[in-house]
Amino acid sequence: MIRQTSSLLFTIIALLTGLMGCSTAKKESRTVAPIVRKQLHPDQRILVIGHRGASGYRPEHTLASYQLAIDMGADFIEPDLVMTKDGVLIARHENEISGTTDVATKFPKRKTTKLIDGKEVSGWFAEDFTLKEIKTLRAKERLASRDQSYNGQFPVPTFAEVLELVKSQSEKLGWKIGVYPETKHPTYFASIKLPLEPAVAMELKRAGLAKASDPVLLQSFELTSLRELRKLVDTRLVFLIAAPTDQPYDEVAAKTGKTYADYFTPAEMKKLADLLYGLGPEKRLVIQQGQPTPLIALAHKVGLVVHPYTFRSDKPFLADEFAGDPAKEYELFFEAGVDGLFSDFSDHAVRARGQFESVVTAK
Ligand code: G3P
Ligand code: CA
Repeated sequence: MIRQTSSLLFTIIALLTGLMGCSTAKKESRTVAPIVRKQLHPDQRILVIGHRGASGYRPEHTLASYQLAIDMGADFIEPDLVMTKDGVLIARHENEISGTTDVATKFPKRKTTKLIDGKEVSGWFAEDFTLKEIKTLRAKERLASRDQSYNGQFPVPTFAEVLELVKSQSEKLGWKIGVYPETKHPTYFASIKLPLEPAVAMELKRAGLAKASDPVLLQSFELTSLRELRKLVDTRLVFLIAAPTDQPYDEVAAKTGKTYADYFTPAEMKKLADLLYGLGPEKRLVIQQGQPTPLIALAHKVGLVVHPYTFRSDKPFLADEFAGDPAKEYELFFEAGVDGLFSDFSDHAVRARGQFESVVTAK
């Protein structure tokens, strides 16, 4: 979904710069970190969000992955959600599940081709399998560059099981572990009469986690999904932002022509702030060429937190400029004033946050 070209990034930078009436060329002092988040949310530290659990170390979206993220000190764990044929929410990054499970081996004849979010996709789809069938599968590591030794060990968890883990771990630890669920392909799932939002709301209510004050943040790349969720629960909402010229699929389906960049007019940002708790931008929208873009300041100005994604310590993801040291990347974003971030390596994020906080406290 994210286009890699820097020209796209300059589009939003130029747009945001215009809105803010300032220049990104102006160098900001690295020693004067704008800790705006403490004015907005004094009760919170910078959040470490275990992206798909501790997916740098375990197959993503397994209870083992979430557990490890919690053990490493993540404040929140992040399940992406899709739905089974019989209407049960499960944790998978996409509805095509052959990249992260052994479904192709166990159900070789169930391969098919579908149009998902306007693109032809061939594979095995969560919505074609009952939960009973899904439970026969075992997770595998998506990336060849990561540890394959846990393949075949862990089942695919339901959202309800993720919430149970959060509850039991919170009781054990004596503080609340947060959960940060994302609705995946929500327009598509609504189109096949398996809408995600009522099921998300039902599970949160069942778990006693549907109030705004509960440690739950609901996220989506599609505002339509967040608006649906708002009708059902008071949970805080976060809008994910992809490349500026990309169109959210709900806007494609509604033929509005609207892109992510179109949300960033002053009027649109004000409207967003009425609905949302925060924004989840792709991280290159927050730091460009080593300098903060105006995005954080713009969001904070209307009271929105900013949680960029995704921080990864391993090759080929960590940019060369950090010379193999992920702490340098975290420091840059902490200094820019992010309120939290999604990381595949919660241990690295927690360590870097501790280091940053000790420096800020000492000042
Ligand atoms: O939800 C934050 C981040 O996870 C969005 O990207 O594709 O990893 O779900 P993705
Ligand atoms: Ca996600």
